Amino acid sequence: MSQKPVVVYGVSGYTGRLICEYLREYQIPFIAAGRSKQRVQEAIDKIPGIETADYEIVEVEHSVAALTELFTGCQVVCNTVGPFDYYGEVVVEAAANSACHYMDTTGEQAFMLRVRDKFGAKFAEIGKILAPSTAYMYTPLDIAANIVLEDSSIDSIEAGCLAAGVPTYGSTQTIFSMFQAEHLYLENNQLLAWEKGRGFEMTVPGKMMTQLAHPWGGGSLPVWFEHDYRVHNVRQLTAFTNRPMFEQLIALQKHYEDNIKLLPKDDQAKALAEIADGMQPGMPPRENKLVHRTTDFVHGIGTGVRKTCVIHTAVPYQLTGVVQAALAMYLLQEAPKKTGFVSSCQAAGHEYMLGAIKKFLPIQVDVY
Ligand SMILES: NC(=O)c1ccc[n+]([C@@H]2O[C@H](COP(=O)([O-])OP(=O)(O)OC[C@H]3O[C@@H](n4cnc5c(N)ncnc54)[C@H](OP(=O)(O)O)[C@@H]3O)[C@@H](O)[C@H]2O)c1
Repeated sequence: MSQKPVVVYGVSGYTGRLICEYLREYQIPFIAAGRSKQRVQEAIDKIPGIETADYEIVEVEHSVAALTELFTGCQVVCNTVGPFDYYGEVVVEAAANSACHYMDTTGEQAFMLRVRDKFGAKFAEIGKILAPSTAYMYTPLDIAANIVLEDSSIDSIEAGCLAAGVPTYGSTQTIFSMFQAEHLYLENNQLLAWEKGRGFEMTVPGKMMTQLAHPWGGGSLPVWFEHDYRVHNVRQLTAFTNRPMFEQLIALQKHYEDNIKLLPKDDQAKALAEIADGMQPGMPPRENKLVHRTTDFVHGIGTGVRKTCVIHTAVPYQLTGVVQAALAMYLLQEAPKKTGFVSSCQAAGHEYMLGAIKKFLPIQVDVY
C-alpha cells in the first residue's frame, strides 16, 4: 500500500527517472518503482538534488495483483514501462483497481484504443483519468491543436513533429513493435490506415529543407479527436533530423511487411525486438538543449480559413518529465475537467500544460 501520492513505474528507464526529477522540482512526494530495486536505485542516484526529494524506492513484480497492492492508497500513477502494447494493460488494470489517476508516455494507437474500450468507462465511473500519451510527440501537438481550434470554423488538422535526438532503448523497441499494428489517420470521421513502409516529405516551419517523415504509429491526435464534434480530419507525421535513420526505419518496415509479418505472432515480436536491439542496445546520454531541439506544428484547416500554431522547444525526453509531473501536480490539487479516457489537455486544459512547459524549458509559440 502506497504512503505517497504518486507512483512512478519504470524509474530505472530513461524517462521514468526524468519524471522523478520534475516531481522533485514540484516538491511532490513519490514512490520510485521498478522490477529491480538496484536498477531503480542507480537511476535515482543520478538525479541532481535528489537528497531534497521525499521518495521511497519499491521493487515490484509486473503483475496486476502486485501493482494493485502498490498503487492502493496513492492518487496518481505515472507509467513508463513500454512497449505498452506488451506491458501497459496490466498497469492500467491495476490503476483502475486502486482507483488512481493513470498516465503514461505511449503513442501506440492499438494500445490506446484497446484500453479506451476496456477501461475508459470504469475510469469515468470512479472520477479518475486514463491519460495515455502524456509525453513529447503528443502533448505539444495536442496543445497546438487546441490553440488552432479556438477558431471554430476549423475542422481539419495536419500535425507534424520534428525532433533532433536519439530514441532510447524503450522508444526503439516501441517503434518496431508498432509495425504489427495499423497506423491510423482520421478522414471524414473514420479511422483509416496509412500505407505501410512509406515516408513523406514534410515542410517544417523554420527549416530550409524538407524532412523525411513517417506516421510513427499514427500518433495520438487521430485518437483524441476521433469523437470530437469539431474535427473531421486529422493526420499526424513524425520526423527526426537524422534522415538516414528514417530511411532505415522505412526500409525495415517494408522488410517487416514482406518477411516478418508471415511469421507466428510471438516470432514476429522476437524478430522486431532483435532489430531494435541492433539499432539502440543501450541508454543514450542525457539530452542537450543546444543539440536536441524540436519543432511541433499544427495546421488548422477550414473552408476559406487557415490557422497555424508552431511550438519550438528542446530536450523532448525532459519535456516528457515536465508534462507528467505537471499533470500529477494538477490532479493532486484539482478535479480533472473531464474524466475517463482523456488527453492531458482535456484533463487539465491546454493553457495549463503549455504554462508548465514554459516554466522549465525555452519555448517559442507562433500562431498565425
Ligand atoms: N512519446 C514520447 O515522446 C516518449 C517519450 C519518452 C518515452 N516514451 C515511451 O516510454 C517507454 C519507455 O521509454 P524509455 O525511454 O524510458 O525506455 P527505457 O529507458 O528502455 O526504460 C524502459 C523501462 O521499462 C522497464 N521495463 C521494460 N520491460 C519491463 C517488464 N517486462 N517489466 C517491468 N518493467 C519493464 C525497464 O526496466 P528495467 O530497467 O528493469 O529493464 C525500464 O524501467 C517507451 O515505450 C517509449 O516509447 C515515449
